Amino acid sequence: MLANDRIPGIETYDVYRKHGGYASVEKALKMTPDEIVQEVQKSGLRGRGGAGFPTGMKWSFLAKPEGIPRYLVCNADESEPGTFKDRYLMEKIPHLLIEGMIASSYALGANTSYIYIRGEYMWIVGILEKAIAEAKAAGFLGKNILNSGYNLELYVNPGGGAYICGEETALLESLEGKRGNPRMKPPFPAVKGLWQSPTVVNNVETIAAVVPIINMTGDEYAKLGIGKSTGTKLISASGNINKPGVYEIEMNISVEEFVMSDEYCGGIKRGKRLKACVPGGSSVPILPANLLFKTAKGEQRMMTYESLSDGGFATGSMLGSGGFIVYDEDQCIVRNTWNFSRFYHHESCGQCSPCREGTGWMEKILHRIEYGHGTAQDIDLLWDIQRKIEGNTICPLGDAAAWPVAAAIRHFRDEFEWHIKNPKECMERNYGLAKYADEREIIPA
Ligand SMILES: Cc1cc2nc3c(=O)[nH]c(=O)nc-3n(C[C@H](O)[C@H](O)[C@H](O)COP(=O)(O)O)c2cc1C
Repeated sequence: MLANDRIPGIETYDVYRKHGGYASVEKALKMTPDEIVQEVQKSGLRGRGGAGFPTGMKWSFLAKPEGIPRYLVCNADESEPGTFKDRYLMEKIPHLLIEGMIASSYALGANTSYIYIRGEYMWIVGILEKAIAEAKAAGFLGKNILNSGYNLELYVNPGGGAYICGEETALLESLEGKRGNPRMKPPFPAVKGLWQSPTVVNNVETIAAVVPIINMTGDEYAKLGIGKSTGTKLISASGNINKPGVYEIEMNISVEEFVMSDEYCGGIKRGKRLKACVPGGSSVPILPANLLFKTAKGEQRMMTYESLSDGGFATGSMLGSGGFIVYDEDQCIVRNTWNFSRFYHHESCGQCSPCREGTGWMEKILHRIEYGHGTAQDIDLLWDIQRKIEGNTICPLGDAAAWPVAAAIRHFRDEFEWHIKNPKECMERNYGLAKYADEREIIPA
């Protein structure tokens, strides 16, 4: 997907087209919509927004009642801390997303489609609208695209800057002009989505991946990667590494190679020791160094959905949205967990009491531990609160708030205890004390 991202002018229609752009639309319009859905099914593509749900299967669930419009909505809300790959893709090669939207909309029988984009990405709205205008002028959007009889209008809708509007049903509420509160499911969007019509919501990267799938065929795409982690994945790499950035990886490399090799992250900055990593965005469990390169079974940990979640939450994590945050020995896990909790408290929509109240309680307790007022009971209290949030809310924001707290306590309990026993010495510990995550106690999930 990023093969052409460094070509000067690739953001313009002319240069993009010269390098093979829009070939997938030409090919798709000669196929039937069902044939495209089958190609996507064969490719094994899994949603790149975080949950990893098989895209072809999701498309096949789309209800097709007579006389009712269907919609494709692209989720470009990208607000998960540590994730910035969609931003890169849209900024650098906006036509790739537009091309994917056209081919996917045709496959789903949608004549109106939307890109719902994070409110803070305002400058990208202009980039996308320019690309849409160029595609329309070239006959790839609007009425009777390439004389195929197929019509499609594509709109960009900026959000108001709320993380919750990345949750697909909150997104649909927001797109309808309402407050972005997640809906109860069922009905799922595939049956009743935007304006009660059948709707598919897919992440930016998922939709962009449809372009190479159509171009190379689903079977060829499925040969990339390992097992059920087919194709390539964009990883947003940040933290204490030498080469932060967005990398497109084939899902067949090890985590160690991704972190340490010069081709990707280039190792830990300033020769420090690796302490931990959040491999899939702030919502997924943090992994201590001793569980990052190898699983609890001693197998090499790979950059795949399956391998990163090996061991469940007791000893594993998730690939999530690919927001890969690396921590060196100087970083404070208590402070990091407090920071994440502050985010989830701020972003909770407030519909469900466990999330609305629990995120605030967790933030307060973590704050007092970090600032030297914690008590010995606080760790168990935190554990208790996160357990009562998980699984007890309408949408998974509650889980997303609970998991980082649970994993931090599970793997770094000693660090929490240290904070409580040594109030206000956090800075000294983090900038003066060498204690690492080599041999950590593992608390069952
Ligand atoms: C609180 C919350 C925030 C989310 N934010 C995003 C987001 O910014 N982008 C995204 O693609 N998916 C996000 N998701 C996941 C979406 O609900 C949905 O699963 C996804 O857009 C489906 O697309 P995919 O199948 O292509 O991954 C979020 C989910 C939750 C619970």
